[in-house]
Amino acid sequence: MSISVDDSFLDSAGATDELAEDARTGLTSIPKSLPPRWFYDARGSQLFEQITELPEYYPTRTEAQILQAHADDIASAAPVETVIELGSGSSIKTRLLLDAWQRGGTLRRIITVDVSASALSEAAVSLAARYPAADVLPIRADFTRHLDGLAKTGRTAIVFLGSTIGNLDPAERASFFSGVRSALEPGDVLLLGTDLVKPAEILVPAYDDAAGVTAAFNLNVLRVLNRELGGDLPIEAFDHRAVWNRLDERIEMRLRAAREVWARFSRIGLDVHFDAGEELLTEISSKFRREGITAELALAGLNLTHWWVDPAEFFALSLSQ
Ligand code: AVJ
Repeated sequence: MSISVDDSFLDSAGATDELAEDARTGLTSIPKSLPPRWFYDARGSQLFEQITELPEYYPTRTEAQILQAHADDIASAAPVETVIELGSGSSIKTRLLLDAWQRGGTLRRIITVDVSASALSEAAVSLAARYPAADVLPIRADFTRHLDGLAKTGRTAIVFLGSTIGNLDPAERASFFSGVRSALEPGDVLLLGTDLVKPAEILVPAYDDAAGVTAAFNLNVLRVLNRELGGDLPIEAFDHRAVWNRLDERIEMRLRAAREVWARFSRIGLDVHFDAGEELLTEISSKFRREGITAELALAGLNLTHWWVDPAEFFALSLSQ
């Protein structure tokens, strides 16, 4: 069985244009940067799945542990018909939640939203088999932009797990939360996973693992650029870096040119230069505190009503309305 992915929000041609635009802007500015969404081609999505199983990468298993303990509390605090999962990836953790909503008997529709078509279609088939009472609508879209117009019915939960919210800077989070706020109606909720601030000795290895999987994931974005834009970036000239930015309380993933690099992207007529030692910022992964996230949500008109954490307080799930 296969379920077709709704591509209308983000067709492939449009995606290449957006990548071209991001490369043009991000690779010619100072400092250089790229949005993290371009990590997730089929290979990048696979590498991310591997990251989630690394001993150093605690967020996925910690969030799963919280869900394991509290999924029924969440389902009874928010008895919804429609579940919209943003950045759903493989949706494995979501099953703990959907099981609870299914047990509660309210679940009628599951909408999964992700930028990765491969991850979406694989997940959709198993979701449809597991939740026969619900229809499954996989939608390939950029969740920061396309929240309106999703086909929700009845009370709805927007579920945003994995601390993917951490990829956004404060201004982007403010506009994301106000987008969520305007998509929600009375009785609807936002369930949000946030990685919490903790010592750098724990954070940095989670983004610079001994096996080098995160390095491969980070470097993969250069392959995506080369493939999609006809580029000749020498991937072996770049080193993976994970830096804890203590002031902004975020991990920054960077790629550092070990030597001077010239590259050409023939498909878009773009020439790029890196000085030796120059860095490209490929991802921010912000870490949160309860007071801070409560205030950010409140500013968008969202009222945080529940807060669940693991015993070590590494990670939190919050419910807002
Ligand atoms: C998917 C954005 C939550 O920031 O921890 C993992 C991505 N990057 N290792 C994160 C990621 C490097 C991940 N998010």
